Amino acid sequence: MVKEEQFISDAVEEIRREAGDRRVVMALSGGVDSSVCAALAARAIGDRLEPIYVDTGLMRKGETERISQVFGNLHLHVVSAGDEFLDALKGVRDPEAKRKVIGERFIRVFEREARRTGARALLQGTIYPDRIESEGGIKSHHNVGGMPLHMEFEKVIEPLRDLYKDEVRALAGALGLPPEIQHRMPFPGPGLAVRVIGEVSRENIEVVREANWIVEDEIVEQFNPWQCFAALLGLGTGVKGDNRVHGWVVAVRAVNSRDGMTADPLHIPWDVLDRIASRITSEIPSVARVVYDITPKPPATIEYE
Ligand code: XMP
Repeated sequence: MVKEEQFISDAVEEIRREAGDRRVVMALSGGVDSSVCAALAARAIGDRLEPIYVDTGLMRKGETERISQVFGNLHLHVVSAGDEFLDALKGVRDPEAKRKVIGERFIRVFEREARRTGARALLQGTIYPDRIESEGGIKSHHNVGGMPLHMEFEKVIEPLRDLYKDEVRALAGALGLPPEIQHRMPFPGPGLAVRVIGEVSRENIEVVREANWIVEDEIVEQFNPWQCFAALLGLGTGVKGDNRVHGWVVAVRAVNSRDGMTADPLHIPWDVLDRIASRITSEIPSVARVVYDITPKPPATIEYE
């Protein structure tokens, strides 16, 4: 605890010093990193913090409502940009191209909002593994480097830049954030789009959102994994009633990890997997098949794209 208290007072001091008398804008996603950042900045600069939440249309079920509730006291500004994102993604199939489109769209929305607030400094919840993976060129994180910000901020403040996820979680506890935030599973910046192989559409995002909800409902509380989710692998054949039908193939993934760099699949008991398969195929009629992914990272990644 002493270590966390020291970090908090140093970070508050750093944010205050870096911000000077500027307004500071940040993208709050509701994940533990950006939430810890927001809590530190609220202590440091109070209502000179301008937190913005962009609803990309690629978020989990109930996410936007939940975040508005938890961070209502920070004057969180919610931007509904789902149509903008889904329109920009039409026809885009390549995984890296999808990430780029989403990252660029996000930056454009964010720039608009930053201009509106008149902020001259930017706060980001970048943590150490984000920097390593971006520098190594493994993938483009939309929240670090890579993406062109077509506006000049006088300052970019990244108070968590040297921390691992478990250290950020400890800070969340010390800052008094609700346990649901402290223990939140990581959720990728590009959202559900990296959990649909190939082109995303309003329809398939809705399917993966529902499947994801069921997987979290069955696994999170009981097994407390690093991450668990559903992904759409494509279409396959199934049988509904007397007919052979084409339906979605849903992959269920549940892994444990320390920092996301390596991961091991959870040994989920058969009865739980059984219930997940039966719930997904009955609650989402367009799904024909459910599979459980048993691949560690490496060689697989945690997400599908
Ligand atoms: P992979 O799929 O590379 O994921 O094994 C490792 C961890 O990173 C998360 N992830 C992301 N987080 N922006 C993020 O903020 C991204 O673009 C992104 N891609 C993957 C993933 O959920 C896992 O925890």
